[in-house]
Amino acid sequence: MKKNPCCCCCNTKQMNSFSLSRILMEKKIILPFLFLSVLVCAADASFNNVSTISFDEGYVPLFGDFNLHRASDGNSVRLLLDRYTGSGFISSSLYNHGLFSAKIKLPSDYTAGVVVAFYTSNGDVFEKTHDELDFEFLGNIDGKPWRFQTNVYGNGSTNRGREERYNLWFDPTRDFHRYSILWTSKHIIFYVDDVPIREVVRNEEMGGDYPAKPMALYATIWDASTWATSGGKYKVDYKYAPFVSEFKDLVLHGCAVDPIQQVSAPGCSEKEADLESANYAVITPESRTAMSNFRQKYMYYSYCYDTLRYSVPPPECVIVPEEKRRFKDTGRLKFSGGHTHHRRSKRRSRVSKIAAQNQAEEI
Ligand SMILES: *[C@@H]1O[C@H](CO)[C@@H](O)[C@H](O)[C@H]1NC(C)=O
Ligand SMILES: *[C@@H]1O[C@H](CO)[C@@H](O)[C@H](O)[C@H]1NC(C)=O
Repeated sequence: MKKNPCCCCCNTKQMNSFSLSRILMEKKIILPFLFLSVLVCAADASFNNVSTISFDEGYVPLFGDFNLHRASDGNSVRLLLDRYTGSGFISSSLYNHGLFSAKIKLPSDYTAGVVVAFYTSNGDVFEKTHDELDFEFLGNIDGKPWRFQTNVYGNGSTNRGREERYNLWFDPTRDFHRYSILWTSKHIIFYVDDVPIREVVRNEEMGGDYPAKPMALYATIWDASTWATSGGKYKVDYKYAPFVSEFKDLVLHGCAVDPIQQVSAPGCSEKEADLESANYAVITPESRTAMSNFRQKYMYYSYCYDTLRYSVPPPECVIVPEEKRRFKDTGRLKFSGGHTHHRRSKRRSRVSKIAAQNQAEEI
């Protein structure tokens, strides 16, 4: 299905709704950029051979068109945030399962309040029952490491956040790194470069919470200051504007379908089979070790260990006892760089903004 780009960028109400999930900086965590040789060695070149497409082949501007700068070769695009607007793009089609991937370089210097999101969603089509898979980069303060989170929603499960938050083992503002979301009927894998950082295996008990309707790819940069708590302590400082995030080597593998009729184009079953047999869909023992190392070193929040929020962890959670021991019942690390206090953070979502406001969580 072709999306009309105009319907996406005409009114501010819709513009606000693009920021599907807005998370605030809540706690300073200082971790040196530890060089984890295990992570790097496990790089099995899963994405070396993926075919990329140009911006115009697969995407259209979503909002803030003046702040979307295509490179002349068409293979990369910059999204800017300045004091007037953020910007974003969206895939022209929705895909029933797919690999959604890009090399991304995040804005450098002081980026408090700036959020860069790379995610799949069908919220424009299914307002009440949307599905979503997120990478959200949460800005940084004073040159401290960027933090990011992943999340999974299915069939409008916005009151059941499935956030995990992490630090990175490199400075994402210095070079391009590949961020990928693989979504098949069997599992979801989030990748940073060649490291699978999170896998959600489909589980019958998840029911509709497992994304099952065609989704588009979105990339956005926006000002999250207005969601700031603590009296706007983490507002965007436009002295440092424009904030520039760059995207290149874009990948869209999957079958484009009509989201309403869910009619798939010819050849979809082959594409699905290709997706499931691709090397990035198979987690080798080496990659699994890399994933476990990443999660042990860099994950600092998991909804699976947040027993205050979920007294019974959601069904897809794999509780790793030695991992669980490191987390408090808030789902946060027991020891995290010597900071002991929490800051409140609010999560809001377009689909159930009010519900989310009422249950502003403390993560
Ligand atoms: C890379 O992809 C091409 C085309 O998709 C394929 O023919 C080739 O065998 C692949 N090479 C490797 C090393 O996987
Ligand atoms: C998705 O949600 C709708 C509305 O609540 C419900 O009717 C439908 O059965 C759900 N689908 C699945 C697969 O759970």
